[in-house]
Amino acid sequence: MKKVLGTADLIVLGVASMVGAGIFATIGIASAEAGPSVVILFLITGITCLFSAWCYAELASEFPDAGSAYTYVHRRLGPWMAWMIGWDLFLEYAVGNMAVALSWSDYFCNWLNSFGISLPNWMTISYTEVHALPQQAADIIIHSAPTFGSWYVLLDLPAITITILITGIVLMGVQLSNRLNWMLFLLKATVLLVFIGWGWQYCTASNWSPIFPKGWSGMLNGTAAVFFAYIGFDALTTLSGESKEAGRTIPKAIFWSLGIVTLLYIVLAILLTGMVHPSKLNVGDPWLLAVQEVGWFAFEPWVASTALISMIGVLLVFQMGQPRIWMYMSKDGLLPKCFSSLHPRFNTPHWSVVATGISILLPLLFLNLTTVIELTSIGTILAFTLVCYLVWSSPSSPSAFKVWYINGRYGILCFIIGAFVYLYVHPIQWTLSVKHSIPILLGCCLIVIVIKTIYHQLSLIPTLGLCSNILLLMTMSVQNWLRVLIWLGIGFLFFIAYQRLNKKNYTNYK
Ligand code: ALA
Repeated sequence: MKKVLGTADLIVLGVASMVGAGIFATIGIASAEAGPSVVILFLITGITCLFSAWCYAELASEFPDAGSAYTYVHRRLGPWMAWMIGWDLFLEYAVGNMAVALSWSDYFCNWLNSFGISLPNWMTISYTEVHALPQQAADIIIHSAPTFGSWYVLLDLPAITITILITGIVLMGVQLSNRLNWMLFLLKATVLLVFIGWGWQYCTASNWSPIFPKGWSGMLNGTAAVFFAYIGFDALTTLSGESKEAGRTIPKAIFWSLGIVTLLYIVLAILLTGMVHPSKLNVGDPWLLAVQEVGWFAFEPWVASTALISMIGVLLVFQMGQPRIWMYMSKDGLLPKCFSSLHPRFNTPHWSVVATGISILLPLLFLNLTTVIELTSIGTILAFTLVCYLVWSSPSSPSAFKVWYINGRYGILCFIIGAFVYLYVHPIQWTLSVKHSIPILLGCCLIVIVIKTIYHQLSLIPTLGLCSNILLLMTMSVQNWLRVLIWLGIGFLFFIAYQRLNKKNYTNYK
C-alpha cells in the first residue's frame, strides 16, 4: 500500500470520522435530557475519550507498521483475543456505519422535503422500524408498499444508496477518498463557521437556565448519545499502512482531531441550547428545528446539507477502517487470504471493501437506529477498554510516544470519589443493574484495578481510561449486553470452526 497520508490529511480524516450523526442528530436526545448541562457533558466525555486516545497514541507509535485495536491486541495478547476484538470492532465500524447511514437517510428526506419532494414511506423505512410504529401507522405504510410474492417491499433506499456509493469510492483508493474528504471538510467548516458566527444573535440567555433541569442524573442520561459523537478518532489507527511516518503522525492526528472536535462540540452545544429551549430538542434533526424556531429559514437547506456531508465523512472513514482490519486479520491468518489481496489498479483490499459494503447493506433492511447506536457504543467501549488495559498492564515497551507517567496511587483517589458521586446520582440505574451479574462483575474488576494500581504505583492515565470505560460499560442496558454477548459468542464459535476447517491451532501461539 502506498504511504500517501500526511499529518494534515490524518487530522482532517480524524475530524471527519467524529463529526456526524452524533452532533447533528443524537445531540437532540442528549440536550432534552441534560438541558444546558449537555455542554458540561461534552467536556467530560471529551476528557474521558482523551484517556483512551492517549493509549491509542502510545500503541500506534509502538506498532506503526499495522494499526487498529486488533493489531495491538494481536501483538500483545495473541490471536485468540485478537480475533475476539476484531469481531467486536465490526460493531464499531460496520454497525456504526449502519447508524450513520440511517441518520443520513432521515436528514436526506427532510432535505428533500424542504424542496417539496417527499419519498413514499415504504422507501424510507426498514422492517423493524415499521413494526416499532403504532399498529395503525404501520398498517398504512405496509399497505402502501409494493409486494414481491407474499413479501411487502420495505427498505431504507437513501441509506442503501449512500452505502453503495461510499463502498464504490472507498474501493477506488485512499487518495480519492482523501481528496473527497478534504473537499467535504472545507465545505462543512465554512458553513459551520458562518453558522456559529451568525447564530449567536438568535440565542436567548434564559434558555441556559437552569443549567441542570433534571439534576446530575439527567445530565448523565445523555452520556450514550454524547459518547456516540466522539466515536471515530481510533479509526485513524487503521490507516497506518497508508500513512507517512505512522508512528509520529497518527498520535499527533489523534490529539489534534480530538481537541478540535471537543472545542467544536462545546461551541455547538452552547449555540443549540441557546437557540431552542432544550426541552423541545428530543428530535432526530435538532439543528433544523433550531433554524425553524428562530425563523432563520434561509439557512435550513444549508444546515441539512452540512449534516449530510458531515455524515458522508464518517461513512467514508469507517468504511475505510473496517476492510483494513479484515486485511490485517487475513495477513495474520485469521481470515481467508482473499481478504488481504489488493486490487491491482486501486491498491485497496477490494474483497474486504466489497464484503464490508454487503455486510452493512443486509442488516440495514432489518435493524432500527436505536439498536445500532447502542451496539456501536458498547462495541467501541469494549475496544477502548482493551486498549487501555494493554497500556495499563504493560506500559514499558520502548516507543516514540509515551503516555505521561503520573503516579496512579494518588490520582486514583480522586477517581474513587468521582465514582461514588456518579453512583450516588445514578441511583435508579444502580438499583436496577445490581440485580444483574455483569455490572457486579465489572464492579469487581474496578476494585481489582484500583488495588493493583495503588499497590504497583501504575500510570494514572491508562488507569483512568480503563476505569472510566468500565463505568460506561456498567451503564449499558441489559438488552444491549445480551446482544453483544450473543455477538461475541457467535464470534467465538466461528473461530473454533475456522481453526478446525484450516487445521490450525492458535492456542500455542507465542
Ligand atoms: N462519531 C460518529 C458520528 O457522530 C460516529 O456520526
